[in-house]
Amino acid sequence: MASTDPAAALAELTARADSALTIVTTAHDGEPSGCLVGFHSQCSIEPWRYAVWLSTANHTYRVARLADHLAVHFVAAGDHDLAAHFGSATGDEVDKFAGLAWGPGAGGVPLLKRLPNRFVGRKLEVLDTGGDHVCVVLDPVTVDVAGTFTPLRLSGVDDVVPGHPA
Ligand SMILES: Cc1cc2nc3c(=O)[nH]c(=O)nc-3n(C[C@H](O)[C@H](O)[C@H](O)COP(=O)(O)O)c2cc1C
Repeated sequence: MASTDPAAALAELTARADSALTIVTTAHDGEPSGCLVGFHSQCSIEPWRYAVWLSTANHTYRVARLADHLAVHFVAAGDHDLAAHFGSATGDEVDKFAGLAWGPGAGGVPLLKRLPNRFVGRKLEVLDTGGDHVCVVLDPVTVDVAGTFTPLRLSGVDDVVPGHPA
């Protein structure tokens, strides 16, 4: 069915696709940062490449611009509380890592102990097409696979209000 409102139709289509969610973390000069990210995808097989899109409004974006590495953690259905924390609080106001178990990964990037399915990527390119999200292309350098998991999806976080509007 064709729609006269392409933006509304695209929102409907992407809601139906129901993407799996990730938490992207990074650090610069001893300052950790991270947020919930629904815009992410592998974008090349040979060589391996993975892209995440960060909102220019986010603390994570500003730290990521200065950082060398980002970690992409795949969120399981049972980790709604962690997704809500990283999606609704902002590093502009709170230290999101206080009280959480985390340790440094490749390049000093913060790895969340609760989310063992993840990879660390070296920042290769930043592609800014003038939109409210900027593409960061990663070259994966370490990958942790901790077993099968049921992903937390967009439809599972209807109750989470983003810390920054896009
Ligand atoms: C379901 C959902 C998906 C989101 N997807 C993204 C995304 O793909 N990229 C992004 O930069 N922010 C995304 N956000 C918003 C950030 O996670 C949110 O604004 C966060 O509070 C920003 O924190 P920060 O300022 O510490 O970086 C999403 C939020 C929600 C609730």
